[in-house]
Amino acid sequence: MVGKPRQVAVFGAGYIGLVTGACLAELGHQVVVRDINPAKIAVLRSGDVPIYEPGLGDLITRNKERLTFTEDLQETLAEAEIAYVCVDTPPSASGDADLSRVWSVVKSLEGASHLRAVVMKTTVPVGTGSRVRAVLDAAGLEHIGYASNPEFTAEGTAVNDFLHPDRIVVGASDEATARLIAGLHHGVDGPVAEMDVRSAEMVKLASNALLATKISFINEIATLCEKTGADIEHVARAVGLDHRLGHHFLRPGIGWGGSCFPKDSEALRQLASNTGYHLQLLSAVIEVNNLQKRRAIQRLTDVLGTLAGMRVALLGLTFKPGTDDMREAPSTVLASRLLAEGAGVRCWDPMARPAETEPWTWTSRHATPELAVDGADAAIVVTEWPQLKEVNWAQAATTMRRPVLFDGRNLLEPAEMRALGFTYISVGRP
Ligand code: UDX
Repeated sequence: MVGKPRQVAVFGAGYIGLVTGACLAELGHQVVVRDINPAKIAVLRSGDVPIYEPGLGDLITRNKERLTFTEDLQETLAEAEIAYVCVDTPPSASGDADLSRVWSVVKSLEGASHLRAVVMKTTVPVGTGSRVRAVLDAAGLEHIGYASNPEFTAEGTAVNDFLHPDRIVVGASDEATARLIAGLHHGVDGPVAEMDVRSAEMVKLASNALLATKISFINEIATLCEKTGADIEHVARAVGLDHRLGHHFLRPGIGWGGSCFPKDSEALRQLASNTGYHLQLLSAVIEVNNLQKRRAIQRLTDVLGTLAGMRVALLGLTFKPGTDDMREAPSTVLASRLLAEGAGVRCWDPMARPAETEPWTWTSRHATPELAVDGADAAIVVTEWPQLKEVNWAQAATTMRRPVLFDGRNLLEPAEMRALGFTYISVGRP
């Protein structure tokens, strides 16, 4: 710790709130994390972490002197100098971000005139800061600063991303608030990019949209590779060697999912629509991603002839490996489409917490990939869990009713799988 220790209140004990709270405590600050869900607070108080995020449990344990969890608003705000808003903003019926949880946190700050700053960590539409400012001003809190300090952490690497970021974006309403929030990050290994509030709000949305664009772009090129006989793995590698383009986010697959890309890209599209502008490129990026999952089912149908009565194993359910998060996971679309076509769905995943809703009530879950593919007519690698590389595929080829494998993440070697007798298809490879 090299900066001045601050008293921080964090609203929301989800992925972002817990990572933010634990990392700020690690930097030496005194942090109170508040959530309105009593069950979540009880779990945290008992020393457990209600989500799977590598390193987070250790960080919370190591900093328990500086980190408390509560439902109580008074306790949260009693000593607080800075209030971090880390609640979620799910899509509303119109596709805009639903800010109701943000507003209820802002409303709850109205009595806290001792605060020095309110900071928005949650991803919000551009212009939200001005609206929060107006609410604070109307409550007689003109003296409290406001900042947008968006998060760029990815699930599975969130703690490392927070403590070693490419940049810390601070969009503040005034110079003193900018200094305060930049100072809060002393000890973090990354440059601070200071700007106005609206620009900071836009940085977050633009960054996620550009990352999603890279993936949809490479997925379209992969489709063209399938039609022309080129190999996307060679293409993506060599394209990425151009330092102006870089190799990140050029992995082809069956589409992006998760808690951020789908929600934030749609929110940015709607934000543009609300100003009367149609974001054509981003609309295409979203469309390509939707198609990518449906194409997977179509390609499987081409091989099997029909899906009706077929047993299909989904290997991996989470939206990416290293997380238990099922939000907007491509697997949910694949399962629904398979069931709609009359297939039986079997699945395996080491971490997933499938919601107690369709399509998962109609599927059977198995303890190992081998059990999931046993007797199946086809298997789809949906999430590139490393365990799938260790499967005894030679044996799996003999236990499957038909050895058809769609590798949706290009995890396995085509020649090896074909030598084992699989009808093997993947993304953008001949
Ligand atoms: C993302 C951003 O990376 C992060 O900066 C932001 O704060 C939140 O959203 P996350 O959703 O955790 O993080 O996952 P990420 O690793 O970025 O992957 C998102 C999706 O894209 C996954 O479904 C993944 O499988 C897919 N993906 C990623 C690809 O299909 N190809 C790639 O090359 C990279």
